[in-house]
Amino acid sequence: MKWIFVPVVFAGLAGVAFANGKDFLEFRNSKGTVIFAHAKHEKLADNDCKVCHENQVGAIRSFGKAYAHRVCIGCHEPEAGKMEGPITCEGCHQSS
Ligand code: HEC
Ligand code: HEC
Ligand code: HEC
Repeated sequence: MKWIFVPVVFAGLAGVAFANGKDFLEFRNSKGTVIFAHAKHEKLADNDCKVCHENQVGAIRSFGKAYAHRVCIGCHEPEAGKMEGPITCEGCHQSS
């Protein structure tokens, strides 16, 4: 029954396949749309889903401004010597 593990391994290597067929999630909100490269961020988090999915993968119940600014900006502003991401408003919120 070894074949049963194949999809799991594949998902681990290829990242999550989203319903929209892309590796990106788009959060439209009043400040400006945030384009989130999910697949890339899985790698940035060393495939540790718990960095963002505190309980289980999938929709994040508390997702919103407070959650995003804590978890996302928290990692973009790391200790010296680590990789950094955008911390300015415009770095994440794109005005359209
Ligand atoms: C850097 C943060 C981050 C990491 C790491 C991360 N995710 Fe996510 N993921 C999110 C966010 C944000 C959402 C959107 C949540 C929402 O809208 O409620 C999401 C959504 C999802 C969804 C639902 C997609 C959809 O179409 O709505 C799945 C499934 C998922 N993640 C799986 C995973 C798995 C599996 C891992 C680990 C390999 C992982 N995630 C790692 C941030 C992350
Ligand atoms: C594990 C740490 C970590 C977490 C958590 C994280 N990011 Fe990032 N993010 C990064 C790093 C590092 C970069 C820079 C990547 C690069 O320069 O290639 C980045 C880059 C970005 C970018 C710039 C475009 C891009 O894809 O390079 C956006 C937008 C972004 N992150 C949004 C988010 C959002 C929204 C969340 C929360 C849902 C989030 N990030 C959570 C580490 C993180
Ligand atoms: C690391 C990326 C990132 C940065 C930097 C960032 N935000 Fe956000 N922000 C988000 C995400 C993701 C959400 C949640 C979007 C959602 O729930 O649709 C959000 C939500 C918000 C909301 C709530 C919008 C709504 O309609 O509910 C406001 C207002 C906001 N941000 C303002 C700001 C301001 C002002 C700055 C600069 C001081 C900023 N953000 C910087 C990612 C970021």
